Amino acid sequence: MFCDKCSPSLLAGLAALFSNVLAAPHCNLVPPTRPSLTAQTGSSGSIADGMDVVATGWYPGWLGSQLPPNEISWTKYSALTFAFATTTPDPSVIALDDESAALLPTFVNEAHNNCVDALLSIGGWTGSIYYSTAVGSADNRTTFVKAILDLVNTYALDGIDFDWEYPSRQGIGCNTISDDDSANFLSFLEELREDPVGADLTLTAAVGLTPFAGPGGIPLSDVSAFADVLDHIAIMNYDVWGAWSTDVGPNAPLNDSCAAVQAGSATSAVKAWTDAGFPASKANISLISNVEALSNSCELFHAKIVLGVAAYGHSFHVATNDALDNAGNLALYPPFDKSQQPLGDSDIPGAPPSEDECGNPVGVSGTFNFNGMVAAGFLDTNGNAAAGIDYRFDNCSQTPFVYDPNNQTMISYDDQTSFAAKGRFIDENGLAGFAIWHVAGDYNDTLLNAISDALDLEQVCS
Ligand SMILES: *[C@@H]1O[C@H](CO)[C@@H](O)[C@H](O)[C@H]1NC(C)=O
Ligand SMILES: *[C@@H]1O[C@H](CO)[C@@H](O)[C@H](O)[C@H]1NC(C)=O
Ligand SMILES: *[C@@H]1O[C@H](CO)[C@@H](O)[C@H](O)[C@H]1NC(C)=O
Ligand SMILES: *[C@@H]1O[C@H](CO)[C@@H](O)[C@H](O)[C@H]1NC(C)=O
Ligand SMILES: *[C@@H]1O[C@H](CO)[C@@H](O)[C@H](O)[C@H]1NC(C)=O
Ligand SMILES: *[C@@H]1O[C@H](CO)[C@@H](O)[C@H](O)[C@H]1NC(C)=O
Repeated sequence: MFCDKCSPSLLAGLAALFSNVLAAPHCNLVPPTRPSLTAQTGSSGSIADGMDVVATGWYPGWLGSQLPPNEISWTKYSALTFAFATTTPDPSVIALDDESAALLPTFVNEAHNNCVDALLSIGGWTGSIYYSTAVGSADNRTTFVKAILDLVNTYALDGIDFDWEYPSRQGIGCNTISDDDSANFLSFLEELREDPVGADLTLTAAVGLTPFAGPGGIPLSDVSAFADVLDHIAIMNYDVWGAWSTDVGPNAPLNDSCAAVQAGSATSAVKAWTDAGFPASKANISLISNVEALSNSCELFHAKIVLGVAAYGHSFHVATNDALDNAGNLALYPPFDKSQQPLGDSDIPGAPPSEDECGNPVGVSGTFNFNGMVAAGFLDTNGNAAAGIDYRFDNCSQTPFVYDPNNQTMISYDDQTSFAAKGRFIDENGLAGFAIWHVAGDYNDTLLNAISDALDLEQVCS
């Protein structure tokens, strides 16, 4: 099957410019071609009409019974990433639990039947423990490259997502870590690209709000070399505020420069990465002089930053006096009571304490998927606050909050309004697209449709 993700739709999108008949597109997600394209020539910023948009997300392998691969809304995605394979002490072994190993072939098959790229993510919060080791020496890198190529071959993958949380910065608590992590990661990616199979893979990385870190965990000032070996990065712009914070705050703020406390946001993160030389957008239509040049310069048009967006929220126990002002409006950034953490939609009431991969105790998560908020009665089936639930849309973070006064539960989350705002931000800043954590969290595609509509996406197939 031919599923070129680059040149066909790019050429199709620009065909109007040159009045040429070009190769037919094959199932890509593009904004519709509009007559205004010519008028945009030379301007920067918004995603040019007709160019591919990365519409992707992570598929949680442990929720295969909740969202079987054949029920995924494939036509609305350009690629999906199966989460997770994990690092192990041995760089030649990348682990997949039995459930994931059983589900992954079905996932890949469904993706390919729908002309969507299938990627596998390695790492995650709990699976990054041995990343530093895997890329820690020349021998280990070569071994790790081979392990990845074996996975690609075994499962017919189109690409790999590196979700290392985080190079040179401790994540879960017991990760191996080195000051050379980012430099070693780059050397490893370069070695993977030197392989003829590796050269053609889609390689992506899930990243934090600040650029890859160097010695001492300090963000590097120049990460441009990563843009040469990665197709894109997805900025994980969520968990900015949560149960660990001092006050209730936005899980996934679009903006924070207008907030009292700058804890990070899509706006600050895109600035941090682009200031460090990572291109948000490589598109520059004014550089195109002829169609032949165009077909050889696909890379030129590929924006490199994807915005990670959250189909979930964090809950907090907030006393009614703190939650509501005298006029009955929801307060922003109220204090909360950590000792009364509400149960999230996947927390089991009365469950005994458990331990994480480092042996540390884990408490109640308190997280709600968007569909879990519908099921628990915070939201109605249209994604709006249900009767009796207080709602506020914070104009700075451009995210919503709900509050149930019956049990003092406040949730900071994303809805169709905030997803639409993020879609407009992606468009206005010329980013490559979006990546949803995670695709089983939505309710009836409410969030996916909102962000896709804001980007004016339409599927173009031959
Ligand atoms: C696009 O290319 C033109 C011609 O080289 C240049 O003048 C312009 O600054 C470029 N725009 C961007 C956004 O890089
Ligand atoms: C390379 O991998 C081995 C395990 O096979 C590990 O013991 C060693 O520490 C790694 N080297 C580095 C520099 O991380
Ligand atoms: C973020 O907030 C600042 C300060 O209010 C404002 O100037 C800027 O336009 C906002 N950006 C977005 C993307 O909302
Ligand atoms: C709070 O109460 C509502 C019913 O009023 C219930 O649907 C919801 O699940 C409760 N939330 C928590 C976290 O217990
Ligand atoms: C927030 O934004 C909405 C829509 O943009 C506007 O109607 C509302 O007045 C704003 N609220 C505040 C407090 O600025
Ligand atoms: C799902 O959304 C569609 C509109 O996109 C609507 O017609 C349908 O009723 C919704 N289904 C449910 C179960 O909410």
